[in-house]
Amino acid sequence: MPVAFVTGANRGLGFEMTRQLLARGYTVHATYRSGEGDLSSLAQPGLHLHRMDVRDEMAIASTLSAIDTGLDLVVNNAGISDGRWKRVEDIDFDTVEDVFAVNAVAPVRVTQLALPLLDRAGGGTVVMLSSLMASLDDCQSGKSYAYRASKTALNMFTVAMKNELAERNISLLLIHPGWVETDMGGPNAPVQPEESVEGILDRIDEQTLVMSGRFVEYTGRPLPW
Ligand SMILES: NC(=O)c1ccc[n+]([C@@H]2O[C@H](COP(=O)([O-])OP(=O)(O)OC[C@H]3O[C@@H](n4cnc5c(N)ncnc54)[C@H](OP(=O)(O)O)[C@@H]3O)[C@@H](O)[C@H]2O)c1
Repeated sequence: MPVAFVTGANRGLGFEMTRQLLARGYTVHATYRSGEGDLSSLAQPGLHLHRMDVRDEMAIASTLSAIDTGLDLVVNNAGISDGRWKRVEDIDFDTVEDVFAVNAVAPVRVTQLALPLLDRAGGGTVVMLSSLMASLDDCQSGKSYAYRASKTALNMFTVAMKNELAERNISLLLIHPGWVETDMGGPNAPVQPEESVEGILDRIDEQTLVMSGRFVEYTGRPLPW
């Protein structure tokens, strides 16, 4: 039975990812920052819950050390939006640092600390929840400064890691989930979490080592960098 690790699983896409992975027969280690939220409704033998803030290196290390199997799949899902500042003068740099810590640094730290468990499984797939808003080519409207830049940094971290991790049979997938109706996506988003996650899981299923570092939408459409 494959084993997955999902961050930010108490609501939104992380919750739906956990639900669908369980339905596909995965054992899932689902992490949450403060409250279990919707996860308590999924209680079953294959689901293991861990309290973990992705900014906390000690918490990540201790969570992973409690897992006594390998990991086939790591989904770096936890993320935050920024201040939606109206003007450059409004940018708040404490918020910028927090957005970078959660969206760009934490997924790399989780990946680094999960390497021994990925090795133990003989390799696997690491999914980074990126965004079309990371795209330099697509940045016509501008704004969303910290969110955009944090996801662009995540894209570069990921592409820069791909050769080294390919030697360990680990493939990296940068995925844009679509504009999805979650707390982050808001009520006007055209895509439901169920459809987005079904697409992401299809992308994970087809992922090979040769594809490592690709940047695609949940539908499989390649995205401009
Ligand atoms: N929804 C969209 O349209 C969309 C589009 C493009 C990309 N994405 C990306 O997809 C991912 C999931 O988005 P979503 O729409 O599901 O967002 P969401 O509904 O706002 O959920 C975000 C999740 O991240 C967790 N999280 C935030 N900071 C954390 C921290 N420091 N430690 C641990 N967990 C933390 C939240 O936990 P708490 O409940 O504790 O806050 C929550 O579980 C994000 O990376 C986002 O950037 C979303």
